[in-house]
Amino acid sequence: MALCFLGLITCAPNQTETSIEQRIDVLLSQMTLEEKIGQMNQYSGFWDATGPAPKVGSAAQQYEQLKKGHVGSMLNIRGVENVRAIQQIAVEETRLGIPLIFGFDVIHGFKTISPIPLAEAASWDLKAIETSARMAALEASASGINWTFAPMVDVSRDARWGRVMEGAGEDPYLGSKVAFARVKGFQGDDLSSPKTIAACAKHFAGYGFPESGKEYNTVDIGTQTLNNIVLPPFLATVNAGVRTLMNSFSQVNGIPSTGSKALQRDVLKTQWNFDGFVVSDWGSIKEMVNHGYAKDSKMAAKIALQAGSDMDMQSLAYVTHLADLVRSGEVNEALIEDATRRILRVKFELGLFDDPYKYCDPIREKTTVGNTKIQQASLDIAKKSIVLLKNDKQLLPLPKQGLTIGVIGALASDKTSPLGNWCFAADDGSAVSVLEGMKSYPGNTILYAKGADLNLGEIQFAQEMIINSDNKSDFPKALEVAKQSDVVIMVLGEHGYQSGEGRSRTDLGLPGVQQDLLEAVYQVNKTIVLVLNNGRPLVLNWADQHLPAIVEAWQLGSQSGHALAQVIYGDYNPSGKLPMSFPRSVGQVPIYYNHKSSGRPSLPAPGEVFWTHYQDEKNSPLYPFGYGLSYTTFEYYNIEAHRETDGNFSVSVEVKNTGDVSGKEVVQLYLKDHVARPTRPVKELKGFELIELLPNTSIRVQFTLTEQELGFYDDHGTLTVQPGEFTIYIGGDSTANLTTTIEL
Ligand code: BGC
Repeated sequence: MALCFLGLITCAPNQTETSIEQRIDVLLSQMTLEEKIGQMNQYSGFWDATGPAPKVGSAAQQYEQLKKGHVGSMLNIRGVENVRAIQQIAVEETRLGIPLIFGFDVIHGFKTISPIPLAEAASWDLKAIETSARMAALEASASGINWTFAPMVDVSRDARWGRVMEGAGEDPYLGSKVAFARVKGFQGDDLSSPKTIAACAKHFAGYGFPESGKEYNTVDIGTQTLNNIVLPPFLATVNAGVRTLMNSFSQVNGIPSTGSKALQRDVLKTQWNFDGFVVSDWGSIKEMVNHGYAKDSKMAAKIALQAGSDMDMQSLAYVTHLADLVRSGEVNEALIEDATRRILRVKFELGLFDDPYKYCDPIREKTTVGNTKIQQASLDIAKKSIVLLKNDKQLLPLPKQGLTIGVIGALASDKTSPLGNWCFAADDGSAVSVLEGMKSYPGNTILYAKGADLNLGEIQFAQEMIINSDNKSDFPKALEVAKQSDVVIMVLGEHGYQSGEGRSRTDLGLPGVQQDLLEAVYQVNKTIVLVLNNGRPLVLNWADQHLPAIVEAWQLGSQSGHALAQVIYGDYNPSGKLPMSFPRSVGQVPIYYNHKSSGRPSLPAPGEVFWTHYQDEKNSPLYPFGYGLSYTTFEYYNIEAHRETDGNFSVSVEVKNTGDVSGKEVVQLYLKDHVARPTRPVKELKGFELIELLPNTSIRVQFTLTEQELGFYDDHGTLTVQPGEFTIYIGGDSTANLTTTIEL
């Protein structure tokens, strides 16, 4: 595979970088082979760091390796006391005193949790997303962490896959912008500051395309999808200066990513000039044996190293086999030097050699973790992540007084589920529930019933699957509450642990008896606001057909209930837009707006059968990519495009707030390349602007498209720009139909 991407920012080494390289040279010259390999070895926290040293079992062995300098990094150790205790062993007890780098999954917040990444992407607010990552870095770094395994930048079109909650959705353009913002947020402008942490773009690459949406399943994608959909967000992170990448569990087109030289050495390290390091995913080196790509873990170690995986997370394959492989001449020691150099480089950049305890200040930990500024930022992005899907007759916002409101659903009072998956450092029960959020507005009377139990997502081992609760014993109480209420807020969806890693689903409806509950309540009170808590697109046909209002509130983190209540009462006018299409049925999945055409794309005549469609479902999604309502309305008109003297295309449109309240709108620009070889999608996002307008005011929104932005990556990975006609669509979602054309 030969890939050559434009837009790469390469910086000339400055003085500090030069001296870092010199310091690495000196250090490398002192290191034994085993010590170099040790830097490439990463363990998960294996014993109580501040307690007595382990004496038996694998913990004792790992402890011994740590003392010998045969460990380069630890993950899952947190808190300054614990980090200091382990760092002390590396710095004070090993021969060369090389500090460890401490990694943790700071995916959406640390102790204070922000919305799941899919929800944050729905804000389309790059500044707020960057701030959210900055706050997470502030908290994590105050707790001893200096490396996060985030952002996950896997594009995915399959809502069955549980990890869609962790990415930015289906689109590579939005995904790239979000990926860039997140890296900037974590790393800041100065990696050596004690308040920033190294980021890790993952999972390189293609992990978001498992067949049938089943976790860890085979990925089989063509080069068009790889080059134009999967890789661009990773390139964006490299352009943002990301210091590490993680490879993935999956095999892509027959080659496990962990063993893919084409991806790691050829694309990433050579063509993109990436000089940070690649960490394997958890045990993914030895999993190449299960894939049938290596016969044993020794062969897996050799393949992974040669392919460019620099650090081994938890396989023990490197630390066990690499020295033998070098001594027998099967592996070139230069590859080990290169990997070690990359790891040491990041440690130097973090400033760990100057002060290995710089993230271990107990006073800073106390004053930073959970402080008001961080909570406020979490609330801010939570409000911005909410997407209003339906609002007939302007049922929302609700008046702040004089109503009796029934709040129903197991998720309504849940204080853990809103934290979503990946919240290990947060305390269970620490989120503001929807019920609490609603009660914090004192003017209305709030009644509550749980209605339906929701299984917390624990696997029933006998059946190897999650069995949702079928308990309907609280239905009568819920109906009673609904009868007494002017408005019912039903908080339904998935528990925070029903999406995420290992949480694929074949059914995208409301789990358990929640749909039954919804329909039962509807029989006694039709004035329902459905508030959804979920980590992926759901199938919502019944709700869309019957209910007046639907609010997509995802899993919004620590401040969840407050954010939701502010939207319900109109203190925040919702502005989120969907980063993934919501299907009408699981059978439509994968469904995404930027699909290719077909030879028979539209109904030729009434009654025709032979065209691209289903017999039993529409082609369109229920809610398209980019869709989301506001408490106001926007009109788009006067679209214009012309070519500037510099060759760029200038495109603009007028947008007017035609409603009664101020509101924000994400103005989206899509492009269609009519004729190209290979073919192009029916439409592709190429720009967006988040604007805010007072009622009855308008603004002209400007976009610039460069020639390169009209191009795409061909099957060899070369950016190609082909002349021809292009249609530009501008509007408030991916069905935008205000158009103009440009020609190249
Ligand atoms: C996940 C990674 C994560 C790692 C460490 C793996 O199971 O796939 O995304 O960073 O665990 O927790």
